[in-house]
Amino acid sequence: MEIKGTGHFVPEKILDNHYFASILDTSDEWITERTGIKERRVCDPDKGEFPSYMAEMAAKRALAAANLEANDIDLILFSITIPDMFFPNTSSVLQARLGMTNQCPCLDISAACSGYLYGLTIANSLIETGTYQNILLIGCEMTSRFNNWEDRNTCILFGDGCGATILGPSTNGPSKMLASQLSSDSSKREALILYAGAAQKPITEEVLKNKEQYVTMDGQQVFKAAVKTLAANCENVLKTAELNHEQIDWFIPHQANLRIIEAVAHRFKFPAEKCIINVQKYANTSSASIPIALDEAIRAGKIQRGQNLLMAAFGAGLTAGAAILKY
Ligand code: ACO
Repeated sequence: MEIKGTGHFVPEKILDNHYFASILDTSDEWITERTGIKERRVCDPDKGEFPSYMAEMAAKRALAAANLEANDIDLILFSITIPDMFFPNTSSVLQARLGMTNQCPCLDISAACSGYLYGLTIANSLIETGTYQNILLIGCEMTSRFNNWEDRNTCILFGDGCGATILGPSTNGPSKMLASQLSSDSSKREALILYAGAAQKPITEEVLKNKEQYVTMDGQQVFKAAVKTLAANCENVLKTAELNHEQIDWFIPHQANLRIIEAVAHRFKFPAEKCIINVQKYANTSSASIPIALDEAIRAGKIQRGQNLLMAAFGAGLTAGAAILKY
């Protein structure tokens, strides 16, 4: 499998840390020191900015980079936690937005921040068995919809955005997925959870009063589990790929918190120059964070063909994933 093209989209509207300091008991210093985040993007629903809109923009950029037309896509995989609507799935909405007429299958993936790596692993299997030739993989999230804007523990952490990647059989010699590992530790599923708004707990006045329609998180538990699991998964994929840390050209982690990234990078002795980091600009965009970082680094000319990319993610579930891809 190879990456044929990438693209990303983030909304224009920027909320910096000073904005949160003006509405909550927080400060730019606290947020920067604890998370590395300086600003994040948020959709403007009045302008029609929803997940499928961001995905359309990102997908068009990826199609142009891959030199393909929308109807060349034979499968859409769409990682998303809060979709445009419960059904139809957002991948089908995207198919319509792209003007596709080939009736290709459309599948949404719900694995929170790890969803892009879940999608990458599924895509690899489907491509290596010859089932599909041009898979459009989307990682997209409108986190501003699950944010409790009165909760300083969570709302400062997230941002909206979308990354798109087009995957197909290798035409470029060494391009290959060298290893991947996915997991989910459901014993910690309550550490990061959105209780209401679906079948178990529909929206009621009581739910709205208790603000259960928003994300709740045990930050310290998530932090500790993230560092431990990311490090273990990176170790495992390095072993499977029979590579040592020096043979990794780029580390592209899920952009949740700079301290989490630094703790994992330190463990593997990855110097700062080897880590792709943009959490300061976009905050945590959930499953969009790796494909956005990947696209930015490719477009900046940092990532070159033949290099080994290590990607690792972690999110609600608690899901996790790591993969090594020769680009
Ligand atoms: N501004 C000021 N003070 C704050 C803020 C804020 N924005 N948020 C929390 N505090 C306060 C707390 O109330 C607490 O005050 P107290 O001591 O009076 O009770 C104090 O700061 C310390 O809180 P901690 O939770 O101990 O702070 P910590 O250093 O753990 O940082 C943070 C909190 C940033 C949330 C950290 O735990 C973290 O990053 N966890 C991982 C979260 C994460 O990445 N989640 C998403 C990953 S999964 C996914 O991507 C979906």
